[in-house]
Amino acid sequence: MCGIVGYVGNKSALDILLEGLTNLEYRGYDSAGIAVNVDGHVELYKAEGKLQNLKDITFEKKEHISKSTIGIGHIRWATHGAPTTINAHPHSCNCGRVAVVHNGIIENYKELRAKLEKEGCVFRSQTDTETVAHLVAKKFAQTHDLTEAVRLATKEIEGAYALCVIHQDIKNTIVATRRNAPLLVGIGEGEYYVASDVPAIIKYTKKAMYLEDNQIVTLTPDSMKLIDIDNNVISQKIEILPWEPVALSKMGYKHFMLKEIHEQPDVVRNVLAGKLRAIDENISLNEVTLDKESLKTLNRIQIVACGTSLHAAMVGKYIMEELCGIAVDVEPSSEYIYRKTVGDKNTLVIGVSQSGETADTITAVRQAKSRGSHILIVTNRPDSTMAREADSLIPVSAGIEVSVAATKSYTAQVISFYLLAIYIAEIKNSANKENLSNLKRELILLPQKIEKVLSHKEDVQACARRFANSKDFIFIARGINYATALEGALKLKEISYINATGYTAGELKHGPIAMLDESMPVLSILMKGQVYEKILSNSEEAKARNARMIALTDSDDTKINDLFECIIKVPEIIETLSPVLAIVPLQLLAYYIAEFLGKDVDQPRNLAKSVTVE
Ligand code: M6R
Repeated sequence: MCGIVGYVGNKSALDILLEGLTNLEYRGYDSAGIAVNVDGHVELYKAEGKLQNLKDITFEKKEHISKSTIGIGHIRWATHGAPTTINAHPHSCNCGRVAVVHNGIIENYKELRAKLEKEGCVFRSQTDTETVAHLVAKKFAQTHDLTEAVRLATKEIEGAYALCVIHQDIKNTIVATRRNAPLLVGIGEGEYYVASDVPAIIKYTKKAMYLEDNQIVTLTPDSMKLIDIDNNVISQKIEILPWEPVALSKMGYKHFMLKEIHEQPDVVRNVLAGKLRAIDENISLNEVTLDKESLKTLNRIQIVACGTSLHAAMVGKYIMEELCGIAVDVEPSSEYIYRKTVGDKNTLVIGVSQSGETADTITAVRQAKSRGSHILIVTNRPDSTMAREADSLIPVSAGIEVSVAATKSYTAQVISFYLLAIYIAEIKNSANKENLSNLKRELILLPQKIEKVLSHKEDVQACARRFANSKDFIFIARGINYATALEGALKLKEISYINATGYTAGELKHGPIAMLDESMPVLSILMKGQVYEKILSNSEEAKARNARMIALTDSDDTKINDLFECIIKVPEIIETLSPVLAIVPLQLLAYYIAEFLGKDVDQPRNLAKSVTVE
């Protein structure tokens, strides 16, 4: 949450900062700001609301601001203080010489603020970040050294932070540091970039250095110095980023979400590549470093995740229990971390996260690690904080996902769970060989089937048009597709703001059925398999209460035509794999409804793509 960008070099900083912030907008969009140094003076420009407002303000003074070849910028997702201009970053001290941008939460800001106020500092905002600006200014007054001032300030700060700081008196220098919040440095020719994430800098350089916790980097146009919090010089680990700038283009689609939905067939191919080589060959998953004997004797698996990743984990639980015969618990990370959980070295703990930066999940895996459990991370960001906690790391290879609503990363996570489940089952010999072969055969066919669903997107669009004005929405399913119902509902609520809920179809009659009337759409996920007839009966029960019925099905059964007002067809698929196919029309349904309602599809209100605070 919140995005940081910084530039120091020989080019004008303004466009680089604004472009960087544009590519970090998925991290927050409540307000934005930049600090530059024009003619020896630090100047702040800030605006409430979308980044465009900042762009409008700076456009008016473009010629003046463009003189600066140094700058820091910020896009905010408010935690402390409302999303107003005054609370927007950068923040400054009373003399206005320091500018600070921050991602994270300063947990002891109240104590720090009280102390600083006693010492004469006058605060302008309600943010935790402003304490850092005053603190750095105080330390600078004592040391006249910006790196040292930041180092001393961070010794007093508790909490999570990625910080970028400039000072009027120290020309052409950015000091940046982090603790439990991501930050990387991009290395150019006679220039350096700092950013919360790769998209902000990938257009300019692929050469980068990730900062570790408590490291402090000092950047000038022609130097980079790295120290730790105890002032030891640290060797720099420079790497080449495996991203292409094209990942940040909409490629002709109206929204990133629609583009990312359409990428799913290739995402499935990528995830399977090299791991599922042939039906009669065992799955190859070298990423799992837990030895085969330990895998055989595992007595428990715990999966921790949030949001969409949690739903992927629920599919994972289902498939692993079915194929591997191991008890699997799935829990939202935010719950897992505040209770006494039982686990030891015979427990495999799996953290699932698109971003690899979700604070709750990072805390959960760290807790599990401290109990001696093997930590397996399933993430789309092998360069993330969570990935660094991993004993085993499965990168899901979905490519950069820009839209706040996760789509292709979900599919990639789910496919990774199928591979993992088959891998363990083959080691343990715990599943019927013919079933495993069949599953592999179907996995190979899956990308084509998703393509077929996408080629019929107009049918989903028509259904979306018909139901776009509904106030509420219910999704029902049973078994392995209960997670699909939850994920379909989450997609709809997060981008259209319609009150949508997923239920197990059997639970409907235990309470939710009371809500049904002619204004309530009920979408039944009616995939062929052992619970098909049961869901059909549950759908009849809903219809009998006048609910408006929609089916998502792979069945050709014409008997269902009278029951449903709208039928979304998908190709036939084995029940075990049906969640991967069933989710695609639900993503499209949410997309088209949000689009009909004129919502901001890629940047829904109140959300951010990486939730880096607990
Ligand atoms: O990066 P993560 O997968 O850890 O993120 C978890 C959730 O914040 C995320 O899935 C969120 O629910 C998305 N907006 C869903 O579309």
